[in-house]
Amino acid sequence: MNILNLINKTRLLPLTTLTSREDVEPLCDILLDASIPYIEITLRDQRTLEIIDEFKKFPDIHLGIGTIRTIEHIDIAAEADASFLITPGFSESLANHAALKNIPMIPGVQTPSEIIKANEAGFSTLKFFPAELSGGVSRLNTYKSVFPDIKFIPTGGITYENTLSYLALDNVLAVGASALIPSDLIQSKSWEEIKNKLEKSKELISNC
Ligand code: 3PG
Repeated sequence: MNILNLINKTRLLPLTTLTSREDVEPLCDILLDASIPYIEITLRDQRTLEIIDEFKKFPDIHLGIGTIRTIEHIDIAAEADASFLITPGFSESLANHAALKNIPMIPGVQTPSEIIKANEAGFSTLKFFPAELSGGVSRLNTYKSVFPDIKFIPTGGITYENTLSYLALDNVLAVGASALIPSDLIQSKSWEEIKNKLEKSKELISNC
C-alpha cells in the first residue's frame, strides 16, 4: 500500500532517533501491536547509520528515514531498503535523487515559495516544519485557501495536547511527532510506557 495512505489511516507519524540495534525489535513489535506499521527514523546520530539495516528483519514495518539532507543520506536509506524519505526542507536535487532511487519522499516546507517549488516538482503532501515555530495551526489554516490541493504533515513541537487542533484541519494528513515515541523512554527501555503512549494518542484521535 502507498505509504501516504497508510499514514492517513492512523494520522500519526511517530519519529525517533535510534542508537542501539537491540531497540529495533521491541520498537517494531510495539508499532505492529498498535497497527502503525511504519516509523520515521531520523539521521541525527552517527550510530543510527550503523543500525538501520536491522529493520530489514522486520519487513512488515515500512521504514522511513528522516532528516535527509544530502544525496549520501538517500543512498544510505536506499541501502537500508527504506520505504520512504523525509527531508526537513525542499531541495530539487534531493527530490531527483529520491526519484532515481525510486523511493517516495515527503519534502519539508515552511513558506509559500517552498510549497510552490515542491508542488512544481510533483509533491502534494508536504511536511510542514518546524510546525509550532512557523505559525502552527493558524498558518496551516491560511494555507488551506491558498494551496487547496496540498496536504501537510506538521512536525516540530507537536504534543499530545496540541495534536487535535492540527488534525481538525482538513489540509492536515497526519501529525509527525517524536513525543509519540520519546527517545528517553527508548534509552530506558520503557517499552510498556511507549506502548501506552501510542495507544493513548490513537484513542485521542479515534473520534476526530
Ligand atoms: C523532526 O525531526 O521532524 C522534528 O525535529 C521533530 O520535532 P519534535 O521532536 O518536536 O516532534
